[in-house]
Amino acid sequence: MNKKAFIFDLDGVIVDTAKYHFLAWKKLAATIGVDFTEHQNEQLKGVSRVKSLEKILAWGNKSINDAEFTRLMGLKNDDYLTYIDKMDEQEILPDVTKTLDFLKDKKQHIALGSASKNARMILEKVNIINKFDVIIDGNDVSKAKPDPEVFLKAAEHFNVPPKHCIVFEDAVAGIQAANNAKMISIGIGDKNTLHEADYVFTDFTEINIDFLNELINR
Ligand code: BG6
Ligand code: MG
Repeated sequence: MNKKAFIFDLDGVIVDTAKYHFLAWKKLAATIGVDFTEHQNEQLKGVSRVKSLEKILAWGNKSINDAEFTRLMGLKNDDYLTYIDKMDEQEILPDVTKTLDFLKDKKQHIALGSASKNARMILEKVNIINKFDVIIDGNDVSKAKPDPEVFLKAAEHFNVPPKHCIVFEDAVAGIQAANNAKMISIGIGDKNTLHEADYVFTDFTEINIDFLNELINR
């Protein structure tokens, strides 16, 4: 069976929106007197909006009521969307489009598997939405990464067993979600941070056609 499902995370894999999430959370956290480090921010990657704010509040030892929680999430998202609004196709990370086109040419299944509720809007802004056969995002799942739900839903859509799914992820929580789903996990980013992945590449320029063919044919 050489029809595999290739599942792409969005933030930090297709576009570098991870930097915008960081800026928006940092600003929001400052308004409630909480600071967090670059290292702590690594733990926010791939994590849902709700879980991210819960972590920030825990780091700052803050407790707030539900209405305030919702208000702060809204503030963060409004700020985040000011960055998204300025995006265009120039922000697609190097060789992402080339990889998607190669996989399409090889008749592979292609999915987006993201925790973001803004995923469709971002894919439309950078004009890449048509390259995905299915989009599973933060509106479709109830359990956040490292729970495998988002990736399993993509596999179910194609009726492909998890062992024939390949996940591209930049977040520790995302690699864990792929591993929990028993899929092949490919880290995009730092080798030390993403050491739980089956393979790690700095970015898509390091992923050559022989490797993709090997994944398709194994
Ligand atoms: C993930 C990001 O893709 O989506 C997280 O890595 C983010 O940083 C999460 O919190 C939820 O995104 P959004 O756009 O719905 O707030
Ligand atoms: Mg990500």
